[in-house]
Amino acid sequence: MTRPGIEIAPSILAADLADLAGALAVCEEGGADLVHVDVMDGEFVPNLTFGPPVVAALARRTKLPLDVHLMVARPGRLLDACCDAGAARLAAHWEAEPHLDRWLQAVRAKGVKAGVAVNPSTPVELLADVLHLCDFVLVMSVNPGFAGQRFLPHALEKCRRLARIIGERALPTTIELDGGVALDNAADVARAGVTTLVAGSSVYSAPDPAGAISALRRAAEGGVA
Ligand code: DX5
Ligand code: ZN
Repeated sequence: MTRPGIEIAPSILAADLADLAGALAVCEEGGADLVHVDVMDGEFVPNLTFGPPVVAALARRTKLPLDVHLMVARPGRLLDACCDAGAARLAAHWEAEPHLDRWLQAVRAKGVKAGVAVNPSTPVELLADVLHLCDFVLVMSVNPGFAGQRFLPHALEKCRRLARIIGERALPTTIELDGGVALDNAADVARAGVTTLVAGSSVYSAPDPAGAISALRRAAEGGVA
């Protein structure tokens, strides 16, 4: 099986939220592959961010695929609305959805790539019986809720374990890592088997945010070259 290429997904949560069009422009100028959109409900995580109307507004403004990360309780509530709003990829948290088999099938039935996200405290081995339905797994390297937190290095070991399981079963599932990804860890992240790197603060707090996207890509590709 050929290795999927590195994808960079800037998280617009870390941008100036009063200028989401500007945040999208940075993604396009920097050559991002995806735009990561963090949907939070103030219940599953202690923060409130975007909902389906914002996803729809973003989809109207960019051709880049929207990678929608649901950090909400009962993510089934938002499944249709997010898919209809234009999400290209949709992930729910393992900790928030007891019926993931049904949930993943429903997302795929909408023609949207389906994923499961796992908190830092959730072992990836718990995904064994849904992995065949996952287009991707989103491994959290911070506790979800906020941009700008410190990277938890334990996540790398989890990604290596997950990559091994995926490889042994020859599944096409890819691994996405989210939280604290920056230039100084991008090579290690890629080496751990991650192909989709989410980056919020390291892009939007950089002096040249578009340049930061291509620098991250180079660093990640350097890790697996
Ligand atoms: C955290 C979010 C992340 C976050 C990433 O709950 O899911 O996507 O915005 O931001 P950084 O890269 O700053 O950790
Ligand atoms: Zn996220």
